[in-house]
Amino acid sequence: MNSKNYVLVGLQWGDEGKGKIVDMLSKDFGVVARYQGGANAGHTIIINGRKTVLHLIPSGIFTDNIVCVIGNGTVIDPEALIEEIGILEKDGQNLDGRLFISKDAHIILPYHKIIDSINESKSDKIGTTKKGIGPSYFDKYARRGIKFSDFDNTKILKEKISKNLGYLTAIFPDSAELKSLNAESLYENLADQYGKIGKYFVQTQYLLNKLIAEGKNVLLEGAQGALLDVDFGTYPYITSSNPTSGGACTGTGIPPTMINGVIGIVKAYTTRVGEGPFPTELFDDTGKKIAEIGVEFGATTGRPRRCGWLDLVALKYAVIINGVTEIAITKSDVLDTFDEIKVCTHYELNDELIDTFPSNPYVLDYVNPVYKSFKGWKSQLKGNKDFSALSKNFRSYIEFIEDYVKVPVKYISTGPDRADIIIK
Ligand code: GDP
Ligand code: IMO
Ligand code: MG
Repeated sequence: MNSKNYVLVGLQWGDEGKGKIVDMLSKDFGVVARYQGGANAGHTIIINGRKTVLHLIPSGIFTDNIVCVIGNGTVIDPEALIEEIGILEKDGQNLDGRLFISKDAHIILPYHKIIDSINESKSDKIGTTKKGIGPSYFDKYARRGIKFSDFDNTKILKEKISKNLGYLTAIFPDSAELKSLNAESLYENLADQYGKIGKYFVQTQYLLNKLIAEGKNVLLEGAQGALLDVDFGTYPYITSSNPTSGGACTGTGIPPTMINGVIGIVKAYTTRVGEGPFPTELFDDTGKKIAEIGVEFGATTGRPRRCGWLDLVALKYAVIINGVTEIAITKSDVLDTFDEIKVCTHYELNDELIDTFPSNPYVLDYVNPVYKSFKGWKSQLKGNKDFSALSKNFRSYIEFIEDYVKVPVKYISTGPDRADIIIK
């Protein structure tokens, strides 16, 4: 009864610090559930200096008595899952009775990763994580995908693997790697993996609704970010799922009527990994300084992240399509030493000023950002707990953002550790 359920979404191109905020908020929730994506995500959690990067397991796992769910909207590579469970168990985490995974989630098979790499070897690459995400969702929507529930009928499962492999080798006839696979050993390997993780799989749509009926609060953890959304992002430079808040319902079976709010996570500047348009990208020393102080390297692939100023046009768009009710701003501390800090308030396009986000990359590539400049706060944010005691320059910066997007900033993260947080 009276459970409070929130969706938490990234409002940029991913890596906003979602893992940190989910971990920090988890104490107020009974359940944390992932609803889309797969091991393309890299969510960093630092507790008392100890760092863990999670890819599939929800970021609530370090909070006592939390149930973690991986929902039906995700795509799961059993190899990556087994590895991650192994790391957590070695760390002393007992996952039995705490981790539940949807039988309706789709399986990433070795051929998905091969196809991801083949596609990425072309000149019009997306810059994917090569984790097999796109090809697995491709099979899902082509109604050819394989779900974990297919283990309930292994005869059909074997037939599906064989049929899919035949189909894919026909599409990619030049791939020696694909040709070297055979359906029998793919099945044997998968069955072996399932033997290790099968105990975690249930119909999580029933479980989640039961927990809600019992009064448990659910935090729905988005991976990636709004601008990587397959519908609303900079298509085709996107991931193949819906990180936006609507995806939280379809990706878990929790109905929209049960959602009480949406927490949006935004970095005080912008980063992007992979290809695609990025209007406020900086190619100068300022961009380098942000990357250096912010340690902007991908948590999953280690690739350097492209860096630029905060883009309020893009942020407002993300706030609107997600229905964001409160914002957590992260990594402002990275800008502590800057003399000047800029935010983009408009785009110039064909001699006109616009404040809407053209998601089409072949338009977005041609906009010129128009900036408002702020004086740096030139003081250390980390260690502070009281917003009103912070410097006027910093408060003006936050208040400008709030006024622009018309949503309150409730959390200010001042460092990577769980403890580095100001609640406003
Ligand atoms: P996620 O994918 O959204 O969970 O974000 P990532 O973990 O990929 O990247 C965020 C990075 O910033 C990680 O290295 C975090 O430890 C770090 N981080 C998160 N919040 C803050 C913050 O407020 N300040 C600083 N300096 N680092 C932060
Ligand atoms: P978290 O959850 C940042 C990007 C990739 C690429 C595009 C498509 O840590 O914020 P994919 O492998 O999904 O097909 O790649 O999406 N991408 C991310 N960028 N953070 C992520 O996750 C990402 N997951 C995918 O770099 O541009
Ligand atoms: Mg990340």
